[in-house]
Amino acid sequence: MMKIAITGKGGVGKTTLSGTLACLLSQTYKVFAIDADPDMNLASSLGIHSRITPISKMRDLIKERTGAEPGSSFGEVFKINPKTSDLPESLSINYDEKGMLKLLVMGTVDKGGEGCVCPASVLLKALMRNIILKKDEMIILDMEAGVEHLGRKTAEAVDLMIIVVEPGLKSLETAERIKRLANDIGIEEILCVVNKVSNLEEEEFVKAKLDELGIGVIGTIPRDPIVVKSDMEGKALVDYPKSEALKSIQKISAKILEIGSSE
Ligand SMILES: Nc1ncnc2c1ncn2[C@@H]1O[C@H](COP(=O)(O)OP(=O)(O)OP(=O)(O)O)[C@@H](O)[C@H]1O
Ligand SMILES: [Mg+2]
Repeated sequence: MMKIAITGKGGVGKTTLSGTLACLLSQTYKVFAIDADPDMNLASSLGIHSRITPISKMRDLIKERTGAEPGSSFGEVFKINPKTSDLPESLSINYDEKGMLKLLVMGTVDKGGEGCVCPASVLLKALMRNIILKKDEMIILDMEAGVEHLGRKTAEAVDLMIIVVEPGLKSLETAERIKRLANDIGIEEILCVVNKVSNLEEEEFVKAKLDELGIGVIGTIPRDPIVVKSDMEGKALVDYPKSEALKSIQKISAKILEIGSSE
C-alpha cells in the first residue's frame, strides 16, 4: 500500500495527474484522494462539480473536535490532539459505487502569520497525520508546492513524492527546492513527472536538468489538447481513452504498482 504525494510549481499539472492516477489506481486498490492544495480542484479533475465544503470550513466539526470556534486562536484553550480516526471515512465522498475511490477535501486555513496555531489547522494537521500514518490504503495527496506543512513524522510515512515539472527553468527550480525540503523532512523516494512536453528537444532539456539535480524520472506526459478539452467539458481524463496524456499516465500508474509490489 502506498502513500504518494504529488507536488510541484503552480499550474504544472499536479491536479490532472493526481485525479487521473487516483482513478487508475482505484481499479486495483482502495484509494483516498486527498485535496491538500488551497486551490481545491481535485474534485473537478474527477468530473465532480458540486460544491464541496472543505473540512477547514466545517465549523461545527472543528468546534466539536477541538472544543473551540474556528476563528479563535491566541489565548483560547482547545484540544491540540483532537480525535480524527473516524473522519477519513465519514467525511470522504465516494467517487464510484464500490467505494474504491474516495475524495477528501482539506481546504486551507487563513494564515495568521507564521506558525499560527488555530483550531482549524490543528484539526487538519491531525487528520492528515492520522490518514497518512494509519490508513492501510493507497493515498494520493494533491499538494501545493511544498512539504513543510506535512510535518516530519507524517512525511516519513510518504512512500513516494512525485514532483511535476514542465519544460522551463521555473518549475525545475521549484523542483530543486522541493527536493531539498523533502530530503530534510525524511522523504526518501522522490521522482519527477515531466508534463506538457511538445517535442524531443523539450524532453531532453528537462531530463538533462533533472539528471544534474539527481532526480529520477518516473514518466513523461505530452502536451495534449484532450487534457484541455476534458477540463473545458468538466470531465475526468479517464473518460477520454484516445488521450495521449492518459496513455502516459497509465504507464506511470503501472510503474507505481511495480514500486508498490517490490516494497
Ligand atoms: N499534458 C497536458 N497537456 C495540455 N494541458 C495540460 C496538460 N497537463 C495539464 N494541462 C493544463 O494545465 C492547466 C493546469 O493543470 P492542473 O490544474 O492539473 O495543474 P496544477 O499544478 O494542479 O495547478 P495549480 O497549481 O493551480 O493547482 C490546466 O488548464 C490543464 O488543463
Ligand atoms: Mg491543482
